[in-house]
This record gives sequence, C-alpha cells and structure tokens, in this order.
Amino acid sequence: MIEVLRNPAEMRSRAGALRAAGKRISFVPTMGYLHAGHVSLMEAARDLGDARVLSIFVNPTQFGPKEDLSRYPRDLDGDLHKAEGAGITLAFVPEAAAIYPDGYQTFVEVSDLSQGMCGASRPGHFSGVATIVLKLFHLVQPHVALFGEKDFQQLAVLKRMARDLDLDVEVRGLPIVRESDGLAMSSRNAYLSAEQRQDALILSRAIFGSRDRFVKGERSAEALLALAREILMSNKNIRLDYLELRDAESLKTVDGNVGRPTVLAVAAFVGSTRLIDNVVLPA
Ligand code: PAJ
Repeated sequence: MIEVLRNPAEMRSRAGALRAAGKRISFVPTMGYLHAGHVSLMEAARDLGDARVLSIFVNPTQFGPKEDLSRYPRDLDGDLHKAEGAGITLAFVPEAAAIYPDGYQTFVEVSDLSQGMCGASRPGHFSGVATIVLKLFHLVQPHVALFGEKDFQQLAVLKRMARDLDLDVEVRGLPIVRESDGLAMSSRNAYLSAEQRQDALILSRAIFGSRDRFVKGERSAEALLALAREILMSNKNIRLDYLELRDAESLKTVDGNVGRPTVLAVAAFVGSTRLIDNVVLPA
C-alpha cells in the first residue's frame, strides 16, 4: 500500500531513517492531476530507488496573481491510484500553510536562466519553482530527482540550482510524453474544450514542422523560426506568447546558424489556457 505523509517534519524524519538504513531515495515532484508524463517519471523512479517518493503540492509561490492557482485541477484519489500502480511507495502531500507558514520570506533565485522564455511572461515563476524544489529536496532527501523535458527551462534552472548550491542530488530529465496525435501531455490540457483541444495541436505541428526542415538540412535560425511561426499563425485561435531557439544547455538565444544542440520552444494561449512545448534539434 502506498503511504501518504502530510506533515513536513514527519517527511524529513522518515527520509532520514531511510537514508540511515542505507536505502536509496528517488523522487518525483509534481503538482498532481497526474497523466502519462508523470507516470513515465514515476516508472523511472521505480528503477532508481528503494524508496520512491512522489510529492503532490500545488505550489502557490510559482503562480502569478492572474494565473490559475485557485482552479488548478486536483484529483488526489486518482493520483494515489496511479502512483501506486507506477511503484511509488510514499506520497508527500503537504498543506500550503505547512510549507509556507506565516512570516515566510526566503526565496531562491537562479538569475540568468530564469530570464526570458517562460520567465518573461511569468515573473517570479522560477523563483517559486526553485524555492519549492529546494525545500522538497531538504524534506525528501532524495539521491535522484526526476523531471520532464516538457518544462525545459525549469529543468535547466533546477540543474543549475543543484550545482550552484552543492546539492547532493542528481537532477535528471526525461523526454516529453505526448498524446498519439502529438499534443504534449499536461495537467492543463484538462481546461481545453474539444475544439480547443484540436487548436492546441498546432503547437507540436509547428515545432515538428521546423524540426523536419532541420533534419533535411536547414540550419538558419531565422528560417527555422519563420517556418514554425507561419504554421502557428495559420490558426487564428492561437495567441503566441513566445517562439524561440535557444542553446539547449546555456539557454542563450541562437541566431545565425544552428550548430550546437538547440531547443525550439513555444508557449501559446488557446483561449485562456497557456500551453508550452519544445523539441531539441540535435547537433
Ligand atoms: P507538474 O506540472 O505537475 O509537472 C511535474 C513533472 O512532470 C515536471 O518535471 C514536468 O516537467 C513533468 N511533465 C509534465 N508534463 C510532462 C510530459 N508531457 N512528459 C514528460 N514529463 C512531463 O512541474 C511542476 O509540476 C512544478 O513546477 C514542480 C516541479 C512540481 C514544482 O512545483
């Protein structure tokens, strides 16, 4: 049976006991409403830890004032069922007041990597992400933590944080899991109407269209971006937030020709739902 812990102090002492007993701890942090993308992370965790911890916490500090914190989808029973099926042994499901008690005022800032892309349209977002993940790492004390490349900038920020703050945890990224028609899995897909669900396909079509052109030999950043933009603009129900080519490691903007591994990343609104997707163009 999967065990559920809600108290941060209890989580920390349990993790300490597991470590003292020589157990390896693998960890999958999430905001819940689990889908196949999360399941792929949990299944990877199964192979990497004796104790496999999932956290479910809709982290208020990473949402902007006009974002979807209050209506973020939740399904704890369904999540625990999926987690158990994927081999999770312990679910940590804290209350916001236990994580951010009155008087809370400490935040982690990963400066350069948090600029641009999602950082530009979501000010403070990555500070909230880095802060909660560092706090969770202290409570769960994992040897390895798994994240999706779906949130490419988030993964870069968290890898950098682990290095910069000498954390004794391996931050590992796993590929994007997609629906059969190409749409990247996301808890926020639940917001989409049937019609919007169709409109949303243009994100993956655009970046894959450009990726195909790259595979055929196109190396001009301008041309690759223009093609993806043209595909995106062909659907009038989409409002583009950003479309960018960035170095896959440093996240520095790529102009001129694509030489090193490069990520083509997109964020767009379908109605009021903001979706992101990306594809890495190999070297
Ligand atoms: P959440 O959006 O629930 O995602 C949890 C993890 O699942 C993240 O590492 C994310 O990249 C990964 N994921 C989401 N969709 C995926 C997909 N289609 N394929 C593969 N992996 C996917 O990301 C967060 O929560 C939060 O910011 C968190 C890190 C938990 C901090 O609050």
